[in-house]
Amino acid sequence: ALISLRQLLDHAAEHGYGVPAFNVSNMEQMHAILQAADACNSPVIMQGSVGARNYAGEAFLRHLVAAAVEAYPHIPIVMHQDHGASPAICMQAIRSGFTSVMMDGSLREDMKTPSDFDYNVAVTARVVEVAHAVGVSVEGEIGVLGSLESRLAGKEDGHGAEGKLDHSQLLTDPDEAAEFVRQTQVDALAIAIGTSHGAYKFSRPPTGEILSIDRVKAIHARIPNTHLVMHGSSSVPQEWRDIINAHGGDLPPTWGVPVDEIVEGIRHGVRKVNIDTDLRMAFTGAVRRFMQAPGNTREIDPRKFLQAGVSAMRAICQARYEAFGSAGMA
Ligand code: G3H
Ligand code: 13P
Ligand code: NA
Ligand code: ZN
Repeated sequence: ALISLRQLLDHAAEHGYGVPAFNVSNMEQMHAILQAADACNSPVIMQGSVGARNYAGEAFLRHLVAAAVEAYPHIPIVMHQDHGASPAICMQAIRSGFTSVMMDGSLREDMKTPSDFDYNVAVTARVVEVAHAVGVSVEGEIGVLGSLESRLAGKEDGHGAEGKLDHSQLLTDPDEAAEFVRQTQVDALAIAIGTSHGAYKFSRPPTGEILSIDRVKAIHARIPNTHLVMHGSSSVPQEWRDIINAHGGDLPPTWGVPVDEIVEGIRHGVRKVNIDTDLRMAFTGAVRRFMQAPGNTREIDPRKFLQAGVSAMRAICQARYEAFGSAGMA
């Protein structure tokens, strides 16, 4: 059944687990996410970006979600709007039947320029007022995520901060977070603690603590009833980078967030963990490998290579459900 993010994350907080939120724009991703959840009895958060809705088409995405709910009636499913850039986008998601929306007011509507606190509060509070009236949850964001941090520092876009972030003023400020929650009443809050979006988070293997777990603790202490969200939480599996590169790909050396650091975050209040890149890498690697395998060079049935991609994504989903403790909680 579809449930709200607030319902799921209240349960997660009570039982001390975290839930991966996987991005979706097609049926194969939904199959992978739900087959894995079914196998280990985990609740599910699927999230769609505006790009996902444009790719699939609003009606297709809406009916894919309906199909997921019908096919897995025993699995609690949250359908969440990822990075809504404006109240209008969040309202469209609500009309599409989403049970949770992210109003990302940390940036202006162009999703490039940093906004100020008052703008962020104003747009987020507008969304909360409407969403809560119809039982839909709201995620806000405060702080500067890594990708923007590197942009502000004049680095090439998409190449995250190297090693541990030491620009502590760009991490989410606990007092500001508390004031933001007081004024907006959001259910969940995305915080900046050293992650960035995409495949290029760190250009060296992580050594020691790369996330600011102290900052998670400080924020959680100020807003214990607001569920913390970690964006940019892909681990960028080296195994899949190697498979992609062994089959015609050319991904430069890159590293992500180790799963055990995410688990440490979950111990201190992180409840929703956004993952897109890991499933993109697994799908791409599995399809490349399938296409080049000696027995497959005359294969033209797309179901065969799509299935290879589904199996690869499914293994990552199940590993995350188990590591984050949502397995067994459906
Ligand atoms: O944070 C963004 C997600 O990875 C979704 O990416 O906008 O390309 O669908 P997208
Ligand atoms: P990754 O790029 O690390 O998978 O993060 C996805 C995300 O935060 C979507 O909102
Ligand atoms: Na989101
Ligand atoms: Zn994100």
